[in-house]
Amino acid sequence: MPSLEDELFPSTPGKFKIDRGHNINRQFHRCFASTSTMFIWALFLIALTASYLSFQSFVDSGNRYFTASWGGIQWEKQIRNSAKTNRPGGMSVLVTGAAGFIGSHVSLALKKRGDGVVGLDNFNNYYDPSLKKARQSLLHSQAILVVEGDLNDVKLMAKLFDLVAFTQVMHLAAQAGVRYAMENPSSYVHSNIAGLVTLLETCKSANPQPAIVWASSSSVYGLNDKVPFSELDRTDQPASLYAATKKAGEEITHTYNHIYGLAITGLRFFTVYGPWGRPDMAYFSFTRNILQGKTITIYRGKNKADLARDFTYIDDIVKGCLGSLDTSGRSTGSGGKKRGPAPYRNFNLGNTTPVKVPTLVNILEKHLRVKAKRKIMEMPGNGDVPYTHANISLARREFGYKPTTDLQTGLKKFVRWYLSYYGYNRKDVW
Ligand SMILES: NC(=O)c1ccc[n+]([C@@H]2O[C@H](COP(=O)([O-])OP(=O)(O)OC[C@H]3O[C@@H](n4cnc5c(N)ncnc54)[C@H](O)[C@@H]3O)[C@@H](O)[C@H]2O)c1
Ligand SMILES: *[C@@H]1O[C@H](CO)[C@@H](O)[C@H](O)[C@H]1NC(C)=O
Repeated sequence: MPSLEDELFPSTPGKFKIDRGHNINRQFHRCFASTSTMFIWALFLIALTASYLSFQSFVDSGNRYFTASWGGIQWEKQIRNSAKTNRPGGMSVLVTGAAGFIGSHVSLALKKRGDGVVGLDNFNNYYDPSLKKARQSLLHSQAILVVEGDLNDVKLMAKLFDLVAFTQVMHLAAQAGVRYAMENPSSYVHSNIAGLVTLLETCKSANPQPAIVWASSSSVYGLNDKVPFSELDRTDQPASLYAATKKAGEEITHTYNHIYGLAITGLRFFTVYGPWGRPDMAYFSFTRNILQGKTITIYRGKNKADLARDFTYIDDIVKGCLGSLDTSGRSTGSGGKKRGPAPYRNFNLGNTTPVKVPTLVNILEKHLRVKAKRKIMEMPGNGDVPYTHANISLARREFGYKPTTDLQTGLKKFVRWYLSYYGYNRKDVW
């Protein structure tokens, strides 16, 4: 059997090292001979075991997405302050995905008109988290707190509803993007399915129950080729995992409306763009690449048909979100059917003017005053649909939704923001 020294010094022939081995051995003996050092060793072992056990319970609760960066009296006070309304009959809204593109804009608009807002976001790195942090700072400057936490953190969710009687939830947190599902499918299940259910469970148990307005997507129309897309059209042929999770969300929310009387409004957004936008979207990455002199890839559909999108400016989407919050109705609880059922609704929020992607590039070139290097490619079959066009008559009828910003005007505002946010001197570009 190898001795302790052999294990510590497995290949150490030569006098010097063996001597050192003996020396260590002697020191070990001296060490353990003293009772006080024995005591210190025992303490050390106990501490080691304790920290191991607490680490285990951390892992067991499946909390690898969560950081315990919340809690405490000061934190609770901040939440209550952030949720305070500042107008008669004002709402207290929990905005999930508040550090995201649409969530940050909706939060600011609510706060501006005197509603209380508490944000929630997990700041995941699907795209540059520093942009999410910058949006959080912007919200913070307007006295809106964005809590860093995950939808799936049951304790955090319950705590937020303990602290604030939210009248509405604006649920915008999700794993967005179509192509990323090929790389990380489980992130869609985590946020768009599991996270949604956790949120609904929390709302179901809350007293009072809030009304819920949440982001579905125009992608639920999938392979539908009847245009414009109407809420009456079929939505059972999703073309991507993203679309499938949004469609699942519409069914799941329907269940919670039916069983637990939660008031539900689903918003089917059509390609939203604007300042503080999402870097993974084409208009954004085109801008970046055009400015850096890189080639942009423009996809084309079958029979060389250009792709087109019903691009919708963020301010119009914000108006649609506020309009649907204002008309979201009341959750009635499971016994509520006697008082009339809680509403379940889905609305298209688009611009009603589809624009071809090459036209989008022309507009960007004009605003940036830089010529784009274009590469035209056949669209790979990975979930993008060739064409979207919203029929918005339902949202118009229900809450007067009327988009007013065309792509020219909206992209001009986007480009202005982009240049200033990324520190371009206008003279460098123009
Ligand atoms: N932008 C569009 O064109 C568009 C179109 C249709 C639908 N939508 C939907 O609108 C909503 C908002 O989109 P966006 O463009 O602002 O996207 P976004 O990615 O900028 O915002 C979503 C935010 O949610 C957060 N988030 C994701 N998973 C979370 C989780 N499990 N817990 C807590 N936070 C989490 C992210 O960190 C992100 O900040 C999403 O539901 C999206 O699917 C957007
Ligand atoms: C638009 O949708 C509504 C239902 O929301 C429908 O009644 C109407 O016929 C649709 N219009 C068109 C042009 O498809």
